Amino acid sequence: MAERENFGSKLGATLAAAGSAVGLGNIWRFPVETGQNGGAAYIIIYIACIILLGIPIMSSEFLIGRATHCNTAGAYNKLAPGTQWKWVGRLGVLSGFLIYCYYSVVAGWTLAYSLLAICNQFADKGPDDYVRVFQDFASNPFLPVVCMAAFFITTHLVVVRGVKQGIEKFSKLMMPALFIITVILVFCSLNLPGAGKGVEFLLKPDFSKITTSTVLNAMGQAFFSLSLGLGCLCTYASYFNRDTNLMKTTVSVCTIDTLVALMAGFIIFPAVFNVGMKLGPDDVGPSLIFITLPNVFHQAFAGAPALGYIFSVMFYILLMLAALTSTISIHEVVNAYVSEEFHIRRSRSALIVTLVCMFIGVCCALSFGVLSDFTIFGMTLFDLFDYIASNILLPIGGMLIGVFTGWRLDRKLCYDQLTNGGTIRAPYFPLLRFCLRYVIPLAIGAILFNQFGFA
Ligand code: TRP
Repeated sequence: MAERENFGSKLGATLAAAGSAVGLGNIWRFPVETGQNGGAAYIIIYIACIILLGIPIMSSEFLIGRATHCNTAGAYNKLAPGTQWKWVGRLGVLSGFLIYCYYSVVAGWTLAYSLLAICNQFADKGPDDYVRVFQDFASNPFLPVVCMAAFFITTHLVVVRGVKQGIEKFSKLMMPALFIITVILVFCSLNLPGAGKGVEFLLKPDFSKITTSTVLNAMGQAFFSLSLGLGCLCTYASYFNRDTNLMKTTVSVCTIDTLVALMAGFIIFPAVFNVGMKLGPDDVGPSLIFITLPNVFHQAFAGAPALGYIFSVMFYILLMLAALTSTISIHEVVNAYVSEEFHIRRSRSALIVTLVCMFIGVCCALSFGVLSDFTIFGMTLFDLFDYIASNILLPIGGMLIGVFTGWRLDRKLCYDQLTNGGTIRAPYFPLLRFCLRYVIPLAIGAILFNQFGFA
């Protein structure tokens, strides 16, 4: 077996992990959730979830990965040989597989919308036209499949180049670009007349809107956005060097991810309020980014179409880059597993993963068109994959990772990993352990309880 690669630098490692975290979850799912759950109060709960659940679970994934230098299933085999814990890793690989198949469909849409924006297809249209453009596109039997395939191929080409030359190099290039585009867009959006209303929506909490489901949605969103629960960051951490400070990396990744999500809010809501739009359930559904926003951008910049054009192009390119660094990380989870557990060369295992996921991804893409009548439990394949992975497998995975680290792993091993063998201080350690042992199983137990309809 060839020697296992590591990331070349700490910055590269942080940016790769941040690249995994920042994705459609931040720019597509977070604003939708914020809109549906009433704005600022939801954001406060979301941030609490990041701190109480996100940081402990992310640091657990990091320490499990770096302690073993293995793919996620192999890691449990190494730390708890001969036990059933290996199923946590395998479950992660399964969730990664499912997420990769349907996430790539939406990723393909971002590619298509970037091209539409570049070709100035959003100009001279009325509100109904945007709905039609999206529906025609999503139900077309070829276009979404072609865009999705292009996404799979690009992801594949980055992953086969390896950890340092592929994933790390790409993340180092893309993450700063993504950050710059985000900042420029926030600036443009905040300068729109009436932007203050959008800002108020994001900053002035109305706690009367909080229900238990708001809290549960915020937790689910935190998991998805931070790439937690399926061993994605565990796999990346298996390429970390001995001197990477795990807690510092955790805090950096959580901060970058939350900042990008908030900035996405500051791009979208001022523009939405600028055009005087009320946030009805249809406006903030999953179609927000693909139907509502082209309309919003078009109207908001009606006085300066050139600026509107640049804004739309940059926005969809931002979305596409963010999606790409995330698909790379999901591909790597499955790829590392197939390659190491079945002793297959990396390039070959990457090809197997790409081809299998592409085949199933086509079925997901078609579930908006020719396969829309093919349902299981009343859901199309796309919805079913999203539901099973995000609402069931990720929370279960996250909870088990927390329980494993808190209860099963040797306390000293955890301490050694977090302090790099005692060379850095970890005054937070008792608190972290408390969160892992009690807060996480109880809190996530509550999500699952709610989702299975008992609450
Ligand atoms: N976090 C990414 C996003 O916000 C998606 C993602 C990448 C993910 N890897 C993951 C989600 C692992 C869950 C688990 O878009």
